[in-house]
Amino acid sequence: MKLLVIGGGGREHALAWKLLQSPRVHKVYVAPGNAGIALEEGLESLPVTAFPELIEFAKKENIAFTVVGPETPLAEGIVDAFLGADLKIFGPTQQAAQLEISKDFSKAFMLRHNIPTAAYATFSDPSAAHQYLDQKGAPIVIKADGLAAGKGVVVALTLEEAHAAVDAMLIEKNLGEAGAKVVIEEFLQGEEVSFMVMVDGHQVLPLATSQDYKRLQDGDQGPNTGGMGAYSPAPFISPERHAKVMREIIDPVVTGMRHENSSYVGFLYAGLMITPNNEIKVLEFNCRMGDPETQPIMMRLKSDLVTLIEQALNGTLDKAEIEWDRRVAIGVILAAHGYPGNPRKNDAINGLPALISKQKSSDEFHIFHSGTTLGGKDGNEILTAGGRVLCVTAMGDSVKMAQRNAYNIAEQIHFDGRQMRSDIGYRGIVNAGIVHQKD
Ligand code: AMP
Ligand code: GLY
Repeated sequence: MKLLVIGGGGREHALAWKLLQSPRVHKVYVAPGNAGIALEEGLESLPVTAFPELIEFAKKENIAFTVVGPETPLAEGIVDAFLGADLKIFGPTQQAAQLEISKDFSKAFMLRHNIPTAAYATFSDPSAAHQYLDQKGAPIVIKADGLAAGKGVVVALTLEEAHAAVDAMLIEKNLGEAGAKVVIEEFLQGEEVSFMVMVDGHQVLPLATSQDYKRLQDGDQGPNTGGMGAYSPAPFISPERHAKVMREIIDPVVTGMRHENSSYVGFLYAGLMITPNNEIKVLEFNCRMGDPETQPIMMRLKSDLVTLIEQALNGTLDKAEIEWDRRVAIGVILAAHGYPGNPRKNDAINGLPALISKQKSSDEFHIFHSGTTLGGKDGNEILTAGGRVLCVTAMGDSVKMAQRNAYNIAEQIHFDGRQMRSDIGYRGIVNAGIVHQKD
């Protein structure tokens, strides 16, 4: 069978790579894809983003089903468009994707369904927002209501920063429509984890746990990014905490969405904060898999992803069995010069290991491409084309071994201005000792 994945980053590369491992699949198209996808046997980049063209392609090529990677096409209603054309697609409808698209919707939804999250208020009037800030004090968090490509959240440590963030969003309109409303919420401290599941409208299949590293520099310093690396599993999620997340967060979301007539089908991502007094609160929902969390999670998935998605599309996720590699997987991001502010493009990438064919696909490591393109003199050079460039993902029997394996490969890959953290996975080492601690 032939499949289609929408998107062009490391998450989509990893999803497509995993889908291709199914014995039933001989081709996975990724639209628009990237250089790594284009060069990998069995995967093909398709330089198309318009929905009518994608629908025409899916029909013409007899695509068995489509999987959506990023939030933007979901927010633009790609699932509604494909379903309207009688095509199978895995992802939430535009209405169900409100959980990510609107922070205000998401917070109000959590309140309606008793899902634990930080206290908040929503404002479109700047003076009311300023008044609220003065009343609450700092630290405090200001979030643009709409999608802002990772730039919509300001964790303000002082009231001055908080007031400036409100002015930037509500008065200067630096995020456009996305910042026309802001959610101001209580600052939470603790350990952040990523909890992802598959949902078929009714039933839920939890995926492996993970943590990502949002800050640019070692020791969680520097500006926020889309994620500089991730590892799986996250030992901080003990079996007790796992059960609590399912009971208090995931199940109420799925039931709540169904009761509000917008059944949720697709991957669902809950960004969670585990506070020092052991409360688990939702920081955000994403209506998709995380990037780069997907890369290590797909490395550890032993089951056939095609079967799992078919079960989700058929509403039979309760029958699904999922098996994980017991090893640890770590994904280290190599980012471009200037990322996250103003990433430079067109730097030549050298030192990439030779490609491995589908038959010989290594289960030790894989290099997933994000912002890469083919160019140069003969059109065969691999060049940087975005902020996050590559995700070197490797397995190991322990966090330390996975780290060593990933960094051994990552250090051989060069491009001018390369940025890379050297401590991805450290939380797994710090937290490993508490795995069996009772909650
Ligand atoms: P979000 O897009 O809502 O996940 O926010 C991006 C990042 O900001 C999160 O990954 C956290 O690191 C941080 N953050 C968001 N909300 C809060 C909060 N209420 N308290 C502390 N940090 C937060
Ligand atoms: N890595 C966080 C995200 O995908 O939103």
